[in-house]
Amino acid sequence: MRLRVQPARRLNGRVEVPGDKSISHRAVLLGALADGVTEIRGVLEAEDCLRTLAAVEALGVEATRKGPGEYRIAGTGLGGWQEPSDIIDCGNSGTTARLLMGALAGHPFWTMLTGDESLRRRPMARVAEPLRRMGATVVGRADGGRLPLAVRGTERVRALAYELPVASAQVKSAVLLAALYADDEVSVTEPAQSRDHSERMLRLFGARVVTRGLTTTLEPGPLRATSLVVPGDISSAAFLLVAGLVVPEASVTVAEVGLNPTRTGVLEALAAMGARLEIAPAGDAGGGEPSGAVTATVTELRGTTVGGALVPRLVDEVAILAVAATLARGRTEIRDAAELRVKESDRLAALARELGAMGARVEERPDGLVIQGPTRLRGARVRSGGDHRIAMALAVAGLVAEGETVIEDTACVATSFPRFAATINALAGGELITVEP
Ligand code: S3P
Repeated sequence: MRLRVQPARRLNGRVEVPGDKSISHRAVLLGALADGVTEIRGVLEAEDCLRTLAAVEALGVEATRKGPGEYRIAGTGLGGWQEPSDIIDCGNSGTTARLLMGALAGHPFWTMLTGDESLRRRPMARVAEPLRRMGATVVGRADGGRLPLAVRGTERVRALAYELPVASAQVKSAVLLAALYADDEVSVTEPAQSRDHSERMLRLFGARVVTRGLTTTLEPGPLRATSLVVPGDISSAAFLLVAGLVVPEASVTVAEVGLNPTRTGVLEALAAMGARLEIAPAGDAGGGEPSGAVTATVTELRGTTVGGALVPRLVDEVAILAVAATLARGRTEIRDAAELRVKESDRLAALARELGAMGARVEERPDGLVIQGPTRLRGARVRSGGDHRIAMALAVAGLVAEGETVIEDTACVATSFPRFAATINALAGGELITVEP
């Protein structure tokens, strides 16, 4: 599949984005582990979250689709999952694989997990290590450090005080899910605050979770089914908002989008670049998460520095920020972002290579990028490398480039934002992005 992108003159309107990917995964998993029936609205129906739904079904949980984005999950209660009769394929989804590994730590049977070519390259030792300390067995490629791997849980999960070597919400969440079964309190300390959706949602399901500074402590115990609403995904919104800042005549509002402060680093980085952003908070839509509307209006951007504790709060938005930086006046430096090398692709290498092919001045560093702007981007033939966020970032670059941009290998967009092209076209009032088989 490829995207053919024409330059945009204007982009205008108010749209919603699909449900938050991180929150959707967690809602399905916690619903599947709780006692009773959980009703969820706003579930992201993209490939990654469908993998989590299929996984809990393979483990014996009944998940019923009641309408678009609406699911009823009949939770089995902790320890109620059944040994799956086949390997669970997590596709492209790191969140599915890593959070499942944690939830499986309390189930005393073997589950085998695999994934697509990209996921099989990604590090899993960071999850296997704390789970082994808690009593689970993890075997697989690279000594359980790569998929395919198998997890065998235990009836006696041991308590643990764990210091995460990297700020990773997936690893933190895996430990917190395993902690539900533990014989005593479990605590996780992070080097910097990563997204806290698991902590919020565990509380919504009745778990006792306390966060003090960078340490989160969970008291083991059962989960109570609940009803919840998933807000729009700020990581998807970010592509539309940056388009709304850089297309010549643009003003784009994304409504009902999640505004959890552990995810809004992208808005802070854009504000530091001088972006005209208006944020209208609307409160909690019913999932323990703040949400609201964000409007972006075309602005001349300037370079900025992104690093330190800000990085985990915008980790999935570095690709689109890099596009903004190519158009901003001056130098933008992104540092402390080596984690980007182990995402769906090596995003630092991909951005330097592909934005470079469009004429941008991007220097790759071991832990980041240095970008000089502004550049007049030129349309080119570029490749996503199978990474959804690279594909969408390049499409936004294409909207402001001279001439046509062709992005190869874009089926991956369906992992998080299947209607991305249609949403941009609706804002443009014409078909600027064509999807070719
Ligand atoms: C996610 C956490 C982040 C993020 C990923 C989703 C989550 O990864 O990049 O897209 O849902 O917990 P890490 O936990 O590896 O930092």
